Amino acid sequence: MILTDEQRERLRIRRQLLGLLRDGGTFATALYGLIQVAQGVMPALTALATAAVVGAADGDSGTTRVLAPLVLLATTLIVAQVLSAIQFPTMLVVQGRIDLAHRERVARLASRSETITVLEQPAVQDLIATASAEPTTWIEKTPGQGATGQLLLLVRYIGLVTSGLVLARFSWWLVPVLVVPAFGYRVLALRQWLNHFQIWARGIEHHRRYQYWSKLAFAPAEGKEIRVFGIDDWISGTGQEHGLTHMRPVWADDYRAARAKWMQSVLVFCPLLLAFLAVGIQTEHGRTSLATETVVLTASWAVFQAVGYTFDSVAVQGAMPVMRAYNELTAGLADTGRPQVDGPPLTSTPTLAFDRVGFRYPGADRDILTGLELEIAPGELLALVGMNGAGKSTLTKLLAGLYEPTTGAIRADGRDIAEIGYAGWRRELAVVFQDFVRYPLSARENVALGAPADQDALDAAAREAGFLEVLERLPKGWDTPLSKEREGGVDLSGGQWQQVVLTRAIYAIERGAKILVLDEPTAHLDVRTEFEVFERLTRLAREATVILISHRLSTVRQADRIVLLEDGRIAESGSHDELMSHGGRYAAMFAIQAERFQSGYDDRIEEGELL
Ligand SMILES: Nc1ncnc2c1ncn2[C@@H]1O[C@H](COP(=O)(O)OP(=O)(O)OP(=O)(O)O)[C@@H](O)[C@H]1O
Ligand SMILES: [Mg+2]
Repeated sequence: MILTDEQRERLRIRRQLLGLLRDGGTFATALYGLIQVAQGVMPALTALATAAVVGAADGDSGTTRVLAPLVLLATTLIVAQVLSAIQFPTMLVVQGRIDLAHRERVARLASRSETITVLEQPAVQDLIATASAEPTTWIEKTPGQGATGQLLLLVRYIGLVTSGLVLARFSWWLVPVLVVPAFGYRVLALRQWLNHFQIWARGIEHHRRYQYWSKLAFAPAEGKEIRVFGIDDWISGTGQEHGLTHMRPVWADDYRAARAKWMQSVLVFCPLLLAFLAVGIQTEHGRTSLATETVVLTASWAVFQAVGYTFDSVAVQGAMPVMRAYNELTAGLADTGRPQVDGPPLTSTPTLAFDRVGFRYPGADRDILTGLELEIAPGELLALVGMNGAGKSTLTKLLAGLYEPTTGAIRADGRDIAEIGYAGWRRELAVVFQDFVRYPLSARENVALGAPADQDALDAAAREAGFLEVLERLPKGWDTPLSKEREGGVDLSGGQWQQVVLTRAIYAIERGAKILVLDEPTAHLDVRTEFEVFERLTRLAREATVILISHRLSTVRQADRIVLLEDGRIAESGSHDELMSHGGRYAAMFAIQAERFQSGYDDRIEEGELL
């Protein structure tokens, strides 16, 4: 039999799903498997036990012979009951573990890529969203549900085979008579489910809108506007309309399915009737015992039970897109084309060089940097200034290896940082990004980020970053969660958050990082705090190289060197005095800011307003 590519892929995913059962935990998975197998053979066993009871009662040898088969039957029924009671919780444990392990793999996969280039591609984001397996509708299933579903499917066949064997022992011709229509029934039922699946999925856009509109009524921010504008009827009406547009074809299909069930019932009942009649007539004529009749009747029904259910198939179907997305991600993110290197750590602060660096964001149509040349000496305090969108933040992302230069290279002591290995290189860096993340964790965790924290070093870093005063006012000091969403947590202001991430960067320098990159770390700080922070940075700069991006020229004037980024390259470079006497762009901008400051404007010249 020649399989199409798609069928082959589906088979592969089915195998993959079975393989996932490993993650379910040995005991739980073994128990679940055992329950399933036992449940699979239970109908056949029940048939035999019932027949034994009937057979014994049929004879005329008193009650003692009936007792043993009766005990057997009772045991079978009790075991079946116990198994079905523990099946559900065991299944939840197995599924939960599989899903947890799966999601961790997806997260690792997403962070495995050295650069963040791929993460910015919408197609990759879509794949990640699908692969993460967080079902929002019933048609989506998790890998855990898919794996247990696939196992169940296999076990159903064990049930079918055992019931078939029992049947064959008494009347072999019943096997094809019952099994063939049973399969036909299954095929029809499955096709119907899949069709239903597709009809439901086709309206998913309306379903999403329905959810959006329905949730609006409960959201606090929207709640304000809904009341003020008096638009509650409009909102619930629109939601209802989307809900109905989605569900009408689904309900129509439900009616169709109900009608089609007749046809399926004929498929079930005709052969069953035939079997019952044939065996009944034989018993009537004394050619078959009552026991045989009982076993045949029970086992016949078991055959249909074994293949009749479709929920397992639905689970497998629902998990297919998840596994497909996961496999695509694995293939797409696995190989960066370059061997992963992790060279020896740098022994001293290196000389940094941007060697004719050109850069264009993936998919963009213009270069952000073009042939940028910049050398930064060890321990230098370099200020990087430039207009909004000049490419300053882009330069920090390149330095951190989050993107690779399109042309040229970034070198540390002459070695391309890509060759040093990004993991090792990043250990030498402490970076405060312009759009840093505010983790809803304690102050300590926000600074140490999972590393074992050295209290003295933490305090020292907090002092340098001007964060100590804030800390003293926090209810639980270092252990205060920095989010109101957490119990006992507080919300920090924008400036206070900058002090947190500055503390983190300074702490990293104290732990051995050699290059500190600060992308507008002080934009939200008041003038006094900013000045103090800058003072401390000048002291730090001797131990480590400091690259500071800022729009406030009064702050950066004391830097060893100021470089002005314009049109993708360095337009001006020198100390404040040199640049002022040069009388170029920097001098002009400084003059505007100074004049504005002197004429009584707020000291907080908004970021980027002038430069
Ligand atoms: N991920 C991205 N994909 C495509 N283009 C981007 C991306 N990030 C930034 N850009 C573009 O690159 C240019 C430089 O952005 P960058 O953030 O480096 O500027 P900046 O000098 O830091 O500006 P600012 O002073 O406002 O922080 C901008 O035109 C921006 O639109
Ligand atoms: Mg920026």
